[in-house]
Amino acid sequence: MTNPSLLILPGDGIGPEVMAEVRKIIDWFGAKRDLAFDVSEGLVGGAAYDAHGTPLTDETMEQAQQADAVLLGAVGGPKYDDLDFSVKPERGLLRLRKEMDLYSNLRPAQCFDALADFSSLKKDVVAGLDIMIVRELTSGIYFGEPRGIIEEGNERVGINTQRYTESEIDRVARSAFELAMRRDKKLCSMEKANVMESGILWRDVVTEVAKDYPEVELSHMYADNGAMQLVRAPKQFDVIVTDNLFGDILSDAAAMLTGSLGMLPSASLGAPMANGRPKALYEPVHGSAPDIAGQGKANPIACILSFSMALRYSFDQGAEADRLEAAVEKVLAEGGRTADLLGEEGVTPLSTSGMGDAVIAALDASL
Ligand code: NAD
Ligand code: IPM
Ligand code: MN
Repeated sequence: MTNPSLLILPGDGIGPEVMAEVRKIIDWFGAKRDLAFDVSEGLVGGAAYDAHGTPLTDETMEQAQQADAVLLGAVGGPKYDDLDFSVKPERGLLRLRKEMDLYSNLRPAQCFDALADFSSLKKDVVAGLDIMIVRELTSGIYFGEPRGIIEEGNERVGINTQRYTESEIDRVARSAFELAMRRDKKLCSMEKANVMESGILWRDVVTEVAKDYPEVELSHMYADNGAMQLVRAPKQFDVIVTDNLFGDILSDAAAMLTGSLGMLPSASLGAPMANGRPKALYEPVHGSAPDIAGQGKANPIACILSFSMALRYSFDQGAEADRLEAAVEKVLAEGGRTADLLGEEGVTPLSTSGMGDAVIAALDASL
């Protein structure tokens, strides 16, 4: 049997810094759990632009299509702000999502007990929080046509189009219902059916799909109210399903419930490949964090937990994913903190590699 293949795309800014810690963890699973991967590395984002003049080469795109799973760090940075839109670092990531047809983006927000005090919300609002946001990732206003900046009269007009087909809504809704079935069987769908036709269609299709999942309790909420409810009483939710743009914003808000954007992993899943595994890309929710890049301050946990999601969703290694998540929890419980998680006075923060080493030590202790 050949080992499963992993394509690693560290990207820009803190991407390579957090990915270096994930490499240590991948090596640990190879050495200690007999779980080896064929790992290859490629360029994406600004790093690919610097080397090849494009944020994603066709060769890397093809490698991603062939890989059993792709792990990505982050893309972007101020250095690339003035580039033409078509070659901006973010376009590389969007091309991966679109061409791999990764329509279902799972963004869990879990509040580890050790961090409940650290959230900007009151402890009892977030303690024990465990929600899953399912964001549609390959359509909506991110990709709808027409788009562009045109001249009209004597001024410019910026145009983007919110567009969803029934089948696009149907498939992401199904993936959210399937997840809800494996969790607390509660699904809240968020759109703005009060002002957008695409929202009316979204609500219709989700309601139709619900007939196939009678055990799941479905509710609907306008997305602006959803944002408010997420910070007011986030524990009312189990699974949330929403469109591409609302999902982008709501998941950043949910990240802060857990203490830091540096904690939140994600899985972007598509249809099953010939080998039965879903097409998949795993990445932290955060970006390249230019303000702290190169200083060894970045929290690698979001990226580490993204690998844990790969173990669970691509490689059928739920028990090993549990082991890795328990190791992260142990480090936090024992007071391990990167700078973004520091509230208390007098605690010295761990560096990025210090946090990676602490997770490895906790993994060793789990054997
Ligand atoms: P960001 O997520 O990079 O940073 C927001 C804030 O959170 C910053 O203060 C940053 O220091 C902090 N932060 C983020 N991740 C952290 C971590 N792991 N540890 C500690 N602190 C962390 O968002 P931004 O500043 O809006 O965007 C910067 C660049 O990243 C932009 O070019 C943007 O397009 C890109 N971006 C990329 C992705 C991605 O690759 N998936 C996601 C979001 C933003
Ligand atoms: C994310 C990011 C991306 C998005 C950007 C970098 C294209 O914010 O993954 O949340 O808007 O989807
Ligand atoms: Mn985002």
